[in-house]
Amino acid sequence: MRWNPVTHYQSVAVAERYDGERFSSLAGRIFNALEKYHMRRAFSGISRTALVLDLPCGTGRFAEVLLGTGFKVVGIDISAAMLEVARRKLQRFGDRFQTRMADVRQLAQHESKQYDVALCARVLMHFPLEEQISFLRSIATLTKGRVVFTQSLSTPYQRLRRRIKRLLGNQPPAGYPITEAQLQTLLEGAGLKEVDRVRPMALLTEAIYVVAEPA
Ligand SMILES: C[S@@+](CC[C@H](N)C(=O)[O-])C[C@H]1O[C@@H](n2cnc3c(N)ncnc32)[C@H](O)[C@@H]1O
Repeated sequence: MRWNPVTHYQSVAVAERYDGERFSSLAGRIFNALEKYHMRRAFSGISRTALVLDLPCGTGRFAEVLLGTGFKVVGIDISAAMLEVARRKLQRFGDRFQTRMADVRQLAQHESKQYDVALCARVLMHFPLEEQISFLRSIATLTKGRVVFTQSLSTPYQRLRRRIKRLLGNQPPAGYPITEAQLQTLLEGAGLKEVDRVRPMALLTEAIYVVAEPA
């Protein structure tokens, strides 16, 4: 059965272990610091009065960075357990950090354009392309301006790297990395256009950070 990112993170045990397990090794710490650096850069040109939607916010890893630079953040996630960790961690920011439990797939049916900018980190690569499109389209519907999202880019070099990793018994973290052509399909389907992108350590990770705006 396919690993399910919608239900997996609803476990209290998974939520409580998330930050420690993913980002405590040396490689994890470096990757975490690098990701946060690029997030800060992606939001650097945006007025600090903007209301940021962080969806899914998980344990508030990136919300913490954005709150630290002065933004107000609404963190939305389908998992009560992940949100509980985020609220505990980010108490010091008071009412600059709000949380909501919701399924992104339903939110955009009732609401539109109440956030200025949005972040969608580390989730799209867990879904097939059609589901990625509807996930990102919902976020774009909720947002007036810029949408920053992360994905995993599938290039010939990264496909070879994946094959070698699998032969060595390692499961790559992203179930559905996308090619350059699929990235364009994703953007178009979500009603967005790319305005900037960062691809740090292209030989070591598939990670890509895309800054997009309404098309
Ligand atoms: C890997 S975590 C990423 C969290 C955070 N953005 C980060 O980078 O640390 C993926 C999150 O997506 C949430 N999620 C999955 N499906 C969702 C949906 N349909 N609506 C809202 N959140 C969802 C999960 O509960 C989980 O917290």
